[in-house]
Parts: sequence; structure tokens; C-alpha cells
Amino acid sequence: MIELQAVGFGWPDSRETLADISLALQPGEKTVLLGANGSGKSTLLKLLNGLVVPSHGSYHYHGHPIDKASMADRQWLRRFRQEVVLLFQHPEAMLFNPTVRDEIAYGPRRLGWDDIDERVAWWADQLGLRTLLDKPPFTLSGGQKQKVALASILILEPKVILMDEPSASLDPRSVGWLVDFLLDTAATVVVSTHNLSMAAEFGSRCLVLGENGRLAYDGPIGPAMRDMELLERCNLAHRHRHRHAGGEHSHLHGHEWESS
Ligand SMILES: Nc1ncnc2c1ncn2[C@@H]1O[C@H](COP(=O)(O)OP(=O)(O)OP(=O)(O)O)[C@@H](O)[C@H]1O
Ligand SMILES: [Mg+2]
Repeated sequence: MIELQAVGFGWPDSRETLADISLALQPGEKTVLLGANGSGKSTLLKLLNGLVVPSHGSYHYHGHPIDKASMADRQWLRRFRQEVVLLFQHPEAMLFNPTVRDEIAYGPRRLGWDDIDERVAWWADQLGLRTLLDKPPFTLSGGQKQKVALASILILEPKVILMDEPSASLDPRSVGWLVDFLLDTAATVVVSTHNLSMAAEFGSRCLVLGENGRLAYDGPIGPAMRDMELLERCNLAHRHRHRHAGGEHSHLHGHEWESS
């Protein structure tokens, strides 16, 4: 469904952010994307969303090349934008409509769908946004904005859902809703997170971006979470000192998931 072959990408004036990335995502697959700050997670999600295109290698979506030419084809782009959606790490960037209702309805209106009011009401109920529908999005809290952004992409009934650190500003109940949603949806999902305790709930396959924009791991999530050498090398775990009754010692930590 999604196929990257030896993809490289560099932002202007910077070294290569992604290098030699090859991977294939099957329909319905749920993948977690891990990596330290600046390792390129958001960049990879933007590339999968067609917001940037590879500078080396190729990206195919259902056999269709995703490059400058295809992104300039309006008809294709419309289909791609409905099928492949991205929840930004900072969703403020996505919200520009005068009310929450307009924000959630924006995509379906552009696509000329029927029953838009019913669809908006349904997603607002799902995400607990009903009382906020007439408010301007900029007046909402960070987590509420994230839910509006989430509703505005999920209402499109996408085939590929890309999420950039969705759990960062959501409360535990909303994260629980998201996990249940991901368990139920038939869509292909890629979720980036720093929350290693949640990672296994978001997906069964794990991609780890390591140094120099290369994939350090692609495989089942369980072994990755137990591989302290991998986690430490990719700055996902760290060695630090503790005080315990009776003395001090240092040991390796994967932090959040450790207690689970
Ligand atoms: N719009 C941009 N213009 C120029 N450089 C960028 C841009 N976005 C990201 N970069 C650079 O690309 C590299 C990877 O950034 P990216 O945001 O993809 O990392 P990340 O893994 O998502 O980090 P974080 O965990 O902090 O969200 C960084 O060095 C960053 O400075
Ligand atoms: Mg990021």
C-alpha cells in the first residue's frame, strides 16, 4: 500500500534528515514510530503525507509515485488528501476555521459530501466536543485543539492515518479512546510517540529512527522494547543515578514502560 525505496530527504540548508529508508506498509497495519528528538519522525510523517517529497529514492502509494508531478495533479491530490491524513504534532497549525463546527466540516464540504451536519455531530460526540462546536478553535485548550484536529481528519474516513505524538497533550481517557479507535479501525496507521509505555498499545510493528536519519529497527515491537542496547543507542533509554534506601547506584532506564 505504502512503499518507500531508499528514500532520502533533506530540509534546505541542512544535512540529510532521512537517509536510505526502505519500508512497505500493508493495508491495516499498525506501526509505531520511535526516535529521539530531531531524529526525523515528524519529517517522515510529512513525507508519507506528501507534504514533502523524497530527494532520493521513491515513494509509491498504491503503486502511484508520490513526487512533485503527482502532487501538482489536483484530481490525484484530492483523492490522496482524503485517503492519507496527518495529525500534526502541533495541531494549532491545522486549525484556521472560525468555529470548531466549520473546522470539522471543512474537509467533507470540500469533497461535496452529504449529511455533513450528522457526520460532524457524530465525531463531536465521539471526541466530547459537542459543547465546543460554536467556539473559535483558537480559544480552546491544547488537548481540545488536538481533538478538533483529530475529528477533522477522521471524519474523512481515511485509509491511512498518520499521527505525530497524539498522546502528548491528550488526557488518559482520551488516549484510551484513541487506543480503542486504533484497535477497531481498518485503516493503516503510523503513530509517532515518545511514550514507550503506550507504544505497544498503538501498534504491533515498530520503526526506530536512529542516527543520521536511518532506520535502526523495523520489526515487532516487543523485542525492540526489550533491546536496551538499541534503546540506549537511539536515545530512547538512558542511564541515570538513583537514590535508594541504603545507597546509590546507577542503572539503565527505559523509563515510562519500565513499571508495566
Ligand atoms: N520545516 C523545517 N525546515 C528545516 N529543517 C527542519 C524542518 N522541520 C524539521 N527540520 C529539521 O529536521 C530534523 C528532524 O526534525 P523532526 O521534526 O523530523 O524530528 P522529530 O523526530 O520529529 O523530533 P521531535 O521528537 O522533537 O518531535 C531536525 O534537525 C530539524 O531541525
Ligand atoms: Mg516531531
